[in-house]
Amino acid sequence: MNKLESQSASEIVIFGALGDLSRRKLLPALYQLEACNLINEQSRVVGVARQEHTLDEFKAIVLENIRNFVKEVIDEDVLARLTARLVYQQLDMKDATAYKNLAVSLSGANDTRIYYFSTPPAIYGDICDGLNHASLINDADRVVMEKPIGHCLESSKVINDQVARFFNENQIYRIDHYLGKETVLNLLVLRFANSLFTTNWDRNSIDHIQITVAESVGIEGRWGFYDEAGQMRDMIQNHLLQILSLLAMEPPADLSAESIRAEKLKAVKALCPIDRTNVKEKTVRGQYADGFLNGVEVPGYLNEEGAVKGSKTETFVAIKAELDNWRWSGVPFYLRTGKRMPAKHSEIVVHFKDQPHNIFKDSFSDLPANKLTIRLQPDEGVELKMMNKIPGIATQMNIQENKLDLSFNDTYQDQRVIDAYERLMLEVLNGNQSLFVSRDEVEAAWTWADSIIDAWQATNEAPKPYAAGSWGPVSSISLIARDDRQWVE
Ligand code: BG6
Repeated sequence: MNKLESQSASEIVIFGALGDLSRRKLLPALYQLEACNLINEQSRVVGVARQEHTLDEFKAIVLENIRNFVKEVIDEDVLARLTARLVYQQLDMKDATAYKNLAVSLSGANDTRIYYFSTPPAIYGDICDGLNHASLINDADRVVMEKPIGHCLESSKVINDQVARFFNENQIYRIDHYLGKETVLNLLVLRFANSLFTTNWDRNSIDHIQITVAESVGIEGRWGFYDEAGQMRDMIQNHLLQILSLLAMEPPADLSAESIRAEKLKAVKALCPIDRTNVKEKTVRGQYADGFLNGVEVPGYLNEEGAVKGSKTETFVAIKAELDNWRWSGVPFYLRTGKRMPAKHSEIVVHFKDQPHNIFKDSFSDLPANKLTIRLQPDEGVELKMMNKIPGIATQMNIQENKLDLSFNDTYQDQRVIDAYERLMLEVLNGNQSLFVSRDEVEAAWTWADSIIDAWQATNEAPKPYAAGSWGPVSSISLIARDDRQWVE
């Protein structure tokens, strides 16, 4: 049975349909799924927003956004099929009594309803109340929740509880868009479809792992929102921990949501706590100052539009994370992420252990260890650095470090680059939760992150400044240099 045959007709209800996420990501993703014939013919897309619009006006907005945000040449037939599915419903999402109007728009009584919450999390509870008030919740319905799910463990519990009053855990799809990225998904294949890595993926073979998620952008007009969060809540608690959990988890028995989520949860729970006793030694927080990016002068965080002077919010974090389990004992995972770094560049570097003995001393005194680099974005690919003999008739054996490079652009030239939201939207339509974060995992991630944030607050130190366009504060270099290692630049 192909995916589409297994997919029941659904009403895809997007709350916040005119918001930024919907316009940039969700509507273009639906267009792409439509183009691939991956949406059931009977399914409809119901846009819900505060503003008054006629259906024709809504269709015009959708068309405009798809033309703006889909990179490929638009296929007018596909667009026509998608717009034929559209319905618009104006709604005050905080007013439970107004949801009876939505009920009128949702006519397909036997359809699965997919409620996509693309609104601030503060109103997820109101939306659930409204849906319940209008008897719009059935056991087969699904709800999709965007991050941030809370600001800390307690607030995440409040949001999860509000939704859990009406939806069971198997109906809830918590998005972390990194899980929809092709290269992140490929971690499963790399680890569990290649015996070379399956058998060498532990403390016996691996010295340490680096995960870098660098962005060149700054705060992009959302200073107030970002200042409440900071890089720890915005990136580490979710995206970097998701990458870490896929790298660190035990092999799942199969690809089912139950198996994958259970193993990821165990990995997050195995993270050694970082608290007031060891935070200085294990973490570095930074904040970008004025600097240059590609030769252009850019303002520091405190000089951005809307900035409040004196903010101690971090825009950079480096952490030495460790897992307390059999596989990873003694193997640090160095995490590093920041805004206004020299380039948008995300990669994982797995450093294997040194050879125990060097028989090539005459030509190479210090044999470098093998390194596996997984380039997440851009220039997606996998690269393995290894030693090789330089061909030639010299008496001594000349060797050098070379790389095997699997560039996805070169290897899969005919393949379109798929956006994470296309994958995630498809999985929701097909009712597969494996690429979504369970409540237990969100809570385990908050527990670990909260302890670090608490320790930072207790020290009350300002984050270390770094020039915009640099790789972060100098102390992030010391964090890893103390262990006689260095970041791969
Ligand atoms: C979001 C963060 O979740 O991820 C943003 O809130 C960040 O601050 C973005 O810029 C990065 O996503 P991507 O896909 O561009 O790496």
